[in-house]
Amino acid sequence: MDNGMKNALVTGGGAGIGAAISKALADVGYRVGVMDINADNARAVAEGLPEAVAVAGDVTSKEAVDAAFETLGAPPDLVVNNAGIVRFGPLNELSLADFRAVVDVNLIGCFVVAQAAARRMAANVGGVIINLTSVNAINPAPNVGAYAATKAAIANLTQQMAIEWGPLGIRVNAIAPGFIDAGMSAPFFEDPGVRAVRGGGVPLKRLGLAEDIANAVVYLASDAASYVNGHQLVVDGGVINSVLAQLPREPAKD
Ligand SMILES: NC(=O)c1ccc[n+]([C@@H]2O[C@H](COP(=O)([O-])OP(=O)(O)OC[C@H]3O[C@@H](n4cnc5c(N)ncnc54)[C@H](O)[C@@H]3O)[C@@H](O)[C@H]2O)c1
Repeated sequence: MDNGMKNALVTGGGAGIGAAISKALADVGYRVGVMDINADNARAVAEGLPEAVAVAGDVTSKEAVDAAFETLGAPPDLVVNNAGIVRFGPLNELSLADFRAVVDVNLIGCFVVAQAAARRMAANVGGVIINLTSVNAINPAPNVGAYAATKAAIANLTQQMAIEWGPLGIRVNAIAPGFIDAGMSAPFFEDPGVRAVRGGGVPLKRLGLAEDIANAVVYLASDAASYVNGHQLVVDGGVINSVLAQLPREPAKD
């Protein structure tokens, strides 16, 4: 569709952070393709936006991803690889099926969507791709080994895409969210004790909001970030830098 608007596809746009990203992009004038494996959620989010189209589909399927871009109906200016899953468990207990599922959706899904996007962007006027990672891409944590490994791989893939696709006019960056009070972490933060400990451990003294991540997407998508390429933007209130501040130390002698 050529109505002068920029076109964005947001994967996993039917819930949590992806729904907030879809709304923020609509607010700055994008026509948004809200893609989700949950068709009802994709439709509900798209119906709440002024110019949007819902796309039911699985990011691990090349056919479904090609169909999503067909439904969008115009070359994408922006693609946000936000769809993701987590399977909790210590590595010595995690099933192979769970490990494979996480690799499939998070890492393979990111590649399938990004490649399909880049081919279309390269044939048009270029574009922007943003991949969602996690602070677990940088700092490991118990029980999220498979998830963290995929996020670290996406961070590397982002750098690889940036150097291969930069010459084609495509900027590729990543966003690493910290403790976000939404989506897959929302059940975890329903416990007031967990909220207090996690929120209190962040230097900015609060959990992150889905909108904090959406704002970072809007920035990286914009011309204000036109020379930012291959970067992983950590949006975590400073928490992964604060480990030394949280360890006991001797009081200053002077
Ligand atoms: N919530 C957090 O604290 C947090 C922290 C760091 C990173 N992240 C990342 O942010 C992104 C969004 O997470 P969220 O917290 O909003 O989770 P969420 O579970 O609320 O949303 C993920 C969405 O992806 C969709 N999805 C799952 N598999 C899919 C597939 N195969 N194809 C298409 N869609 C699929 C789901 O239906 C869901 O709507 C993820 O990549 C996640 O790893 C979240």
